[in-house]
Amino acid sequence: MMPVFRPATASDLAALIALNDAAVPHVNALSTDVWLRFLGGEARVRVAASPTGALEALTVTLAPGRAYGSENYAWFQRNLPDFAYVDRIVVAAGRRGQGLGRAAYADIFAAVGRDGPPVVCEVNLEPPNDTSLAFHGSLGFRELAVESVYGGSKRVAMLGRRCDGVAEPSLPGPRDGAVLRRGARGVAVAAEDAHGAWVGGAEAVAGIAGRGVLVAVDVAASHRGRGLGARLLAALRREGKAAGWTGLSVRADALPTEARAFLIRNGFAARGDLLDLEFG
Ligand SMILES: CC(C)(COP(=O)(O)OP(=O)(O)OC[C@H]1O[C@@H](n2cnc3c(N)ncnc32)[C@H](O)[C@@H]1OP(=O)(O)O)[C@@H](O)C(=O)NCCC(=O)NCCS
Repeated sequence: MMPVFRPATASDLAALIALNDAAVPHVNALSTDVWLRFLGGEARVRVAASPTGALEALTVTLAPGRAYGSENYAWFQRNLPDFAYVDRIVVAAGRRGQGLGRAAYADIFAAVGRDGPPVVCEVNLEPPNDTSLAFHGSLGFRELAVESVYGGSKRVAMLGRRCDGVAEPSLPGPRDGAVLRRGARGVAVAAEDAHGAWVGGAEAVAGIAGRGVLVAVDVAASHRGRGLGARLLAALRREGKAAGWTGLSVRADALPTEARAFLIRNGFAARGDLLDLEFG
């Protein structure tokens, strides 16, 4: 049975800290002071407990305009007029992979509401948190930016999802964003199945005016229709951006109709003879 999420109170403090700190470095530890400020109303802190009362999951969400010192939160403040910032989501190690994380987000989406602002968060790329990337990707989050924060000690993907449930391209999972090559010629990413066999790839080469030229997005017939092409494109976009490109272009005239529709679904726009994707 799925536990019900309820507001956390000061009497949960010790259990909250223990659950949170067991998930470091995927989430950071907070001082008791900050937890007390969160519980005092600065944040929305929600928990789910087992029938015996042990905390099994927690979420912390903040609206804009709070005095919270996180650089990631500050990034969203600078870049979005409104948002619901998920500062952390933690499921107890023994309860992962059983739908609690999904239930925690359902609780957040219900509170934000269909007409509410986008739900946003960041996920660590360095040190990597592939589980969380796959988790957020499967829930429909898409990448807004990749940023270096905390003096370059962390590289994070800024993610967002609208609350009305419109599906967005998802993100690379644990294996399907492996960078094969990033050099003067360009970037390539590949997807592998659980046995390490190639199931898809995407490649772009350096073009003129600081842009990449999309050369290929290819998904094995056995793996089509699962959003893998969109994830490969998202990975290529991330790597292209890291390589300093401002966007991707591809000649539209030689593209099959299906490929053209796929690219347009994934953010490319027609410009003359080209289809262009701006990294923004
Ligand atoms: C990330 C986290 C909250 C996910 O919670 P969870 O309860 O394990 O996730 P769920 O069982 O609800 O999974 C929902 C979907 O996410 C995806 N997913 C979850 N774990 C995954 C994994 N290890 N690998 C690939 N996909 C995964 C799946 O698509 C899953 O859907 P499915 O079960 O229908 O296939 C949990 O792993 C956690 O607490 N990690 C440590 C703290 C952390 O990293 N927090 C996020 C910081 S950004």
